[in-house]
Amino acid sequence: MENQYIIPSYGRKRHRGLSDAQKNDIHTLYKLYGINDPEKDIPEICAEKLGRKVVLEIGFGNGELLLQQANLHPDMQFIGCDPFENGVVTMLRDIHGRNLQNVHIFKGDARLLLEKLPEQSLRDVYVLFPDPWKKRRHHKRRLLSSKFINKLMQKLSAAGNLMVATDHEGYMLEILANLRTVPNARYCGNKEGLTVKPHCYPGETKYERKALDSGRKCYYLQIRPIHGQQGTDTNPLPTPQYG
Ligand SMILES: C[S@@+](CC[C@H](N)C(=O)[O-])C[C@H]1O[C@@H](n2cnc3c(N)ncnc32)[C@H](O)[C@@H]1O
Repeated sequence: MENQYIIPSYGRKRHRGLSDAQKNDIHTLYKLYGINDPEKDIPEICAEKLGRKVVLEIGFGNGELLLQQANLHPDMQFIGCDPFENGVVTMLRDIHGRNLQNVHIFKGDARLLLEKLPEQSLRDVYVLFPDPWKKRRHHKRRLLSSKFINKLMQKLSAAGNLMVATDHEGYMLEILANLRTVPNARYCGNKEGLTVKPHCYPGETKYERKALDSGRKCYYLQIRPIHGQQGTDTNPLPTPQYG
């Protein structure tokens, strides 16, 4: 699944070429744990009639959080999506080494994967420390546009959560502004402030640790979908707090 018309939201697909061993592993292990044929694989993962809970992590990086969550919740299914092949191969090796049967990898752009997922099929979606594209001329590459948030809301179940974290204040403000234009999304974050992690967040990621270790603030959003008539308890969007 490639779409040349999407502006890439990621920097590069691989770091200095993959070694032969990495190429071999990505080839063989992706057959076992990858989403090779979305039309066939996704219905199996979601198995709606079995009422499976499916969690999607977009941009899993080194994958530690996804592995930890998959280990903790063997009754749930996890989909990890990232086009960065070095991360993908590490993740595939870890899944194989731990014999995890509930993690599925999509090595590509989340926007393409989302098109293939049924409406309201996801329990939670994590987008943790997405590339902030700091330069103004690169802002168009930021992943969390209104259109993308709207699409995510369609894919989340009524009880679902979108969790977005960033250490970039400008990006956080842009996401809040985008949220105001997405009618099917409601902000449900902490009243204590944007820098306090809501309870529903899973553990820490590599980028989060790096940010906190170097003294940068991290911002955490929790967003829930509005389907049909629900949504009367809409939580007003917060005035950003910087403390
Ligand atoms: C800054 S890293 C954060 C990694 C990890 N979430 C963490 O917090 O440590 C952002 C990741 O998002 C991935 N990414 C960027 N655009 C993406 C897209 N459209 N779909 C899926 N992953 C994407 C990048 O390849 C990269 O691995």
